Amino acid sequence: SVLARHYHKNVVDHYEKPRNVGSFDKADPNVGTGLVGAPACGDVMKLQIKVDENGNIVDSCFKTFGCGSAIASSSVATEWVKGKGVEEVLTIKNSDIAKHLSLPPVKLHCSMLAEDAIKAAVKDWKAKQEKAGGSQQQQQ
Ligand code: FES
Ligand code: FES
Repeated sequence: SVLARHYHKNVVDHYEKPRNVGSFDKADPNVGTGLVGAPACGDVMKLQIKVDENGNIVDSCFKTFGCGSAIASSSVATEWVKGKGVEEVLTIKNSDIAKHLSLPPVKLHCSMLAEDAIKAAVKDWKAKQEKAGGSQQQQQ
């Protein structure tokens, strides 16, 4: 499963040393950008994916202007999407991220941002492929 494949002990590390903080060029045709906000608190998350010609995510990064749980959730999300297909990552649930980080119920919406950001990034990438004339067919 997603969790078994990626689980490692230092969950708290995602708070102290978030992985994959950064930005890709939004204009790159192989990059998908998801920008989402949480109405409840105003926090904002940007998550980006870099996709190869087979529809596999080869890299991911994020910038989150928000609480520690949102930052940790995006850090986990970038780790989980790497090496997966663009369809496969649509099955990543915020509840999995929340469980992984042991988020309390009041922080569930922080992990929801990460799920939404993944979906938005894939949607953006797909829209770019269509604009490019559908020359890059997705496999799967
Ligand atoms: Fe599991 Fe890093 S602690 S993704
Ligand atoms: Fe809103 Fe965490 S408190 S994203």
